[in-house]
Amino acid sequence: MHTTTGLQEIIYVSTLAADAPIRVVADIAVKARSNNQQRDITGLRVFDGMHFCQQLEGCAQEVAALMARIRADPRRFRRFSLGYTSVEDIERLERLQQLQGQAAGAAAQVKERITIRLAPDVLAAFRATGRGWQNP
Ligand SMILES: Cc1cc2nc3c(=O)[nH]c(=O)nc-3n(C[C@H](O)[C@H](O)[C@H](O)COP(=O)(O)O)c2cc1C
Repeated sequence: MHTTTGLQEIIYVSTLAADAPIRVVADIAVKARSNNQQRDITGLRVFDGMHFCQQLEGCAQEVAALMARIRADPRRFRRFSLGYTSVEDIERLERLQQLQGQAAGAAAQVKERITIRLAPDVLAAFRATGRGWQNP
């Protein structure tokens, strides 16, 4: 069992080699099922009769090693990488979105408009604090 540190996700599209018979797809699926389970790799592979679209998630070293094997596999033709993220990146993004949400919430707080009378020197002191002095 791997820890969640260094968890990585990759999504790519590849084409079945022109000279590969369609039955290799079943061979790949059988091999992948047992290999991926052993290596704590999860994901989804879709085949449309010509292209594979695969999403893989697991320990970064295992995902990199698997991608190296797939890249060298003569049964595939080309690989178009769609995405490559680490789960830490996703968590960082979620934290950022959370902070942005909080900031938006604070900005949306309704402020009340009032009128007050200030002595000129007091007003000058507020103005001297700079741009946006009316709306701290
Ligand atoms: C499109 C494609 C997807 C593949 N996906 C996997 C996979 O998810 N897991 C896997 O172990 N092998 C996958 N393979 C097979 C690997 O290229 C390689 O043959 C296999 O991992 C070798 O396993 P072994 O060292 O146990 O013989 C895939 C191959 C292709 C062409």
